[in-house]
Amino acid sequence: MNVSAQAPMEQRYFRISLHAIPPNVPIPCDAYIVVAGKLTLLRRTGETFTAERLRKLNRHEVQEFYAPIEQRPVFKEFLWKLLLDPTVPAERRAESVIEGTYLQAEEIDEQGPAFGAGITEMMKMLQKFGPNFVRAMNLGTLVSRIAGKGATRCHGVQTALYAMLLAAKAFPEQADLVWQVGIAGMLHDMGEKQLDARLVDNQQSMNGEDWQAYKAHPGHSVDVLSGVDSIPVEVKRAILEHHEHFDGTGFPKRLRGEEISPLARILALCDTLDKLMTGKGGGSSLPPDEALLMMQTIRPERFDPRLLSLFAAELRSAGRSARPGAGTQPELT
Ligand SMILES: [Fe+2]
Ligand SMILES: [Fe+2]
Repeated sequence: MNVSAQAPMEQRYFRISLHAIPPNVPIPCDAYIVVAGKLTLLRRTGETFTAERLRKLNRHEVQEFYAPIEQRPVFKEFLWKLLLDPTVPAERRAESVIEGTYLQAEEIDEQGPAFGAGITEMMKMLQKFGPNFVRAMNLGTLVSRIAGKGATRCHGVQTALYAMLLAAKAFPEQADLVWQVGIAGMLHDMGEKQLDARLVDNQQSMNGEDWQAYKAHPGHSVDVLSGVDSIPVEVKRAILEHHEHFDGTGFPKRLRGEEISPLARILALCDTLDKLMTGKGGGSSLPPDEALLMMQTIRPERFDPRLLSLFAAELRSAGRSARPGAGTQPELT
């Protein structure tokens, strides 16, 4: 990415969603936005945004800021404070869960072989704050937002967040499923790192041999996580079964119907939606309504029918399908 004179060339940056910034609260880091391909400083640490200014930026399709990477710990602390403050509205705390999940996923990715500590921290966060998140956020709103320009950041996190919201609606009496499916969603494709990048980035032209290699990735994911004792067996099972199909045509074991764990049946829906929306695997990226229509019309029998109709109802219940598109140039005020 090009940087302006205000953004030092040697600097690394992390992303912050606009939705994670509360209005009229001093920000804990410098906030840059991309203007004409260059990073430009918009607010310094300690300055504030009014609600109107945040709305204006959103209207101009500025959906994220960049901040210097060394300010990430202080920004994470800022999010935790919001999460723990009972005077902060539930919707605002739900935004902090979303942002905290993205940031934690980035850290796990950077931790290399020592990723176990990051996963344990993530589990604690989802256990503690997942209930507020599923009460205060709905699937339609979240999906519309993530489908917006520039908001797509991480397939694992998006799959996890959708899955938590669906699990809360599908199994309201089993509260633990929410954080368990969240962790499973985050980690389900970790095994893809062991595949040739060509198989992950472009599945449009795979031959039989390629497919055999690709079908091993759920097992690779579980193997990679075998040393992390804090991950429950239900989570590992969901990861292993996330490509099983309700009609018995999936992989790796060709399980059928309720032989597949409920968590894996939820993941299958959310994983597919995110892949279609983001173009993961080399397809074109679709708006949420088109992605859902495809899931409902092209071999819908691969999904649990009860979960598919609940998923469709939740997606349509709120929010409008945001379509990616070119934004206008924001004003730097
Ligand atoms: Fe997968
Ligand atoms: Fe996936």
